[in-house]
Amino acid sequence: MALSLVIFGASGDLTSRKLVPALYELSQKGRLPEGTRIIGFSRTEFSDEAWRASLAESTAKFLGNRFDRGAWEKFAPALHYHAGDINQAEDFEQLHKRLTQLDGGNGATRVYYLATAPQFYEEIVQRLGASGLADEVHGPRRIVIEKPFGSDAKTARRLNEAVHQVFKEQQVYRIDHYLGKETVQNILVLRFANSIFEPVWNRNYVDHVQITVAEEVTVGRRGAFYDQTGILRDMFQNHLLQLLMTTAMEAPVRFEAEAVRDEKVKVLRAIRPLSAAAVATDTLRGQYQGYRGEPGVAADSQTATFAAVKLAVDNWRWQGVPFYLRSGKAMSCRTTQIVIQFRRPPTMVFGAGASSSVCDANKLVIQIQPAEGIQLLFETKVPDQGMRLRLSELEFSFQREFSGVMPEAYERLLLDVFQGDASLFARADEVELAWGIVDPILAAWQETRLPKLEIYEPNLWGPTSAGAWIETQCRQWFDVCPVIA
Ligand SMILES: NC(=O)c1ccc[n+]([C@@H]2O[C@H](COP(=O)([O-])OP(=O)(O)OC[C@H]3O[C@@H](n4cnc5c(N)ncnc54)[C@H](OP(=O)(O)O)[C@@H]3O)[C@@H](O)[C@H]2O)c1
Repeated sequence: MALSLVIFGASGDLTSRKLVPALYELSQKGRLPEGTRIIGFSRTEFSDEAWRASLAESTAKFLGNRFDRGAWEKFAPALHYHAGDINQAEDFEQLHKRLTQLDGGNGATRVYYLATAPQFYEEIVQRLGASGLADEVHGPRRIVIEKPFGSDAKTARRLNEAVHQVFKEQQVYRIDHYLGKETVQNILVLRFANSIFEPVWNRNYVDHVQITVAEEVTVGRRGAFYDQTGILRDMFQNHLLQLLMTTAMEAPVRFEAEAVRDEKVKVLRAIRPLSAAAVATDTLRGQYQGYRGEPGVAADSQTATFAAVKLAVDNWRWQGVPFYLRSGKAMSCRTTQIVIQFRRPPTMVFGAGASSSVCDANKLVIQIQPAEGIQLLFETKVPDQGMRLRLSELEFSFQREFSGVMPEAYERLLLDVFQGDASLFARADEVELAWGIVDPILAAWQETRLPKLEIYEPNLWGPTSAGAWIETQCRQWFDVCPVIA
């Protein structure tokens, strides 16, 4: 069946850096549906040829030696450009005509990808509806919406309402590209395709869970955007909560969109809301030194570039097991990792001093990026040193185990949209509930100013107090830069 993908924001960064390279890779692997057309829409005037030439250059730059000129020449004819302005109704009428010329209209699947600034989402949706482009009489119509989806629960709800005026929920694909990562999907495989992990994946064996998304970079040129957004909106509402849901959810009855998303939503519903008093004790916020001097950032900015949040999941599986989430910019290294910290044995028969640290206990480390793999830490006897114990590692690396390059998340996600599979996309209730967890923290930070915003030195693991904060009850951050070679 013919497929037309319309990208709004065709001259933008996301299109050139992620979307088109992913589409090119899919085409090279023979996975793009037969007769796929990609139609770019933005105001910049390009001919088809000029858009193709500009994308050839950017794709070559981003893919490096994975770019093949011959393969690109075969792919490029699928690219078409239509100059238009989101604010102009007649430009959507023209787009409609152009699409009908290209795909004939009848029977073609059309996918609309919103890769513009979020303030345009509502307008694009309305204009798609008004111009008949969302009409499913002649074939399936789907819409892909980039993050951020709203800036709080209220705006997310309003956007959902606007989207639902035109599209049914089954037609809507809200992207969180973390869910397209092989390693994130592998968490579900690790848990639900093996029988040895699930029996210990609960409050009886797990002491706590740590989820870290650390970035080495600073805000750079995104200062003006970032100062309005901050770490909680940028990272927690989407990526960190998605990782928490994937780690904490129950097994879905089938690996199907509704079943998977039902289980994820149950986790969000079980997260205990934080009162202002709890925010003061169970969260930390920091700002890296030098942030206020970044272009576009207010000189007295209170925006957090680091946060740590302790969440409780009030259900039978996780009662009493804290989930520590942290993320920051200007950290030691770029790493995304989940640590399942198991309990210590009930008694240490080798003597209290046998381990090098009283905190030593089994850990399962799931490394999401940049190195992808899993590490299991367990106690071993150090040879020739009496009964001295040390943590050793069993390691699995995707790179070592499987040949070839790990696909970009966008490849998988685009393919899923083309095939109508929404399992790896956020549902309307999911985004609203996720905002419902983040909003009270932001409100309390603003109203009570507690906890105090701490200025931290770049290239470390955030504020120094973060260590002391977690070092209660024998807990320590797993401050290890990508552990898997
Ligand atoms: N960049 C990333 O890596 C990334 C990652 C995750 C999510 N996202 C999300 O993806 C979205 C796009 O980000 P981006 O970085 O690609 O933004 P960007 O580089 O600023 O691109 C914005 C696009 O919107 C178009 N546009 C602006 N006003 C328009 C109008 N009135 N009519 C038609 N087109 C218009 C611009 O083209 P013209 O000026 O030619 O009209 C441009 O193509 C954002 O929501 C962002 O949060 C981006």
